[in-house]
Amino acid sequence: MIYLKTDEEIEFMRVSNDIVARTLAEVGKRIRPGITTLQLDKIAESFIRDNGAVPSFFGYNGYPNSICTSVNDQVVHGIPSAYALKEGDVISVDCGAEKNGFHGDSCYTFCVGEVSDDVRQLLRTTKESLYVGIELAVAGKRLGDVGCAVQSYCENRGYSVVREMTGHGIGRSMHEEPRIPNFGKKGFGSKLKVGMVIAIEPMVNLGKQDIYIEDDGWTTRTSDNKISAHYEHTVAIRAGQADILSSFKYIDEFLENNEK
Ligand code: MF3
Ligand code: CO
Repeated sequence: MIYLKTDEEIEFMRVSNDIVARTLAEVGKRIRPGITTLQLDKIAESFIRDNGAVPSFFGYNGYPNSICTSVNDQVVHGIPSAYALKEGDVISVDCGAEKNGFHGDSCYTFCVGEVSDDVRQLLRTTKESLYVGIELAVAGKRLGDVGCAVQSYCENRGYSVVREMTGHGIGRSMHEEPRIPNFGKKGFGSKLKVGMVIAIEPMVNLGKQDIYIEDDGWTTRTSDNKISAHYEHTVAIRAGQADILSSFKYIDEFLENNEK
């Protein structure tokens, strides 16, 4: 069952996603060598609650924290821990928040200090592939159009796209139908309709596409232990142009300041 959203419901989702966007920036500002992923989790949880929202991930299928912190070869669902970040790491921070009954969901991969050019290039391509997918997330296009665009953008640049994990519909539940794969065939798959709200989230590997899940039941890693990147936006489907409900603007603001 796909739940189409009214304009009013989409505005509620914009509010939840704005909290997520600002949470990611709060966390991002504190990322540096020495900080633990559990400290980042506490920053996120306080910020979400201070804004009158509830962390969507906390307790979801027994998930123990408010964000996922996936470092280096961890693809997704890294559990915050006493691990202290070190120079050259990359960390994807995935965050969800619920307010007024609606969820927001977004993810950004940050660098810890200076990272190698190879890794920087992987991050850039993965982020760009998200926007390439979003470009096609408009009424009348098909899920295969979106997936194919993301996949070919990444594969043409020598990277591989994870198959087992996908994006998803989102609304009153964090995960709703349909699944949004980051691969596919142009012209195939279900048609996107006005009022659908979906999370698009490419997970892209420097090496091979294969992944495995650790014994904790969550932490997902690349099988070749090479670096993986992950970016996610929540997007409302409209006629003509996608409406991106989450945002990286707060992150871009402080990343720019950092470079000055
Ligand atoms: N944000 C993830 C997604 O995009 C879900 C995290 S799983 C959780 O689907 F258990 F941590 F919530
Ligand atoms: Co998601």
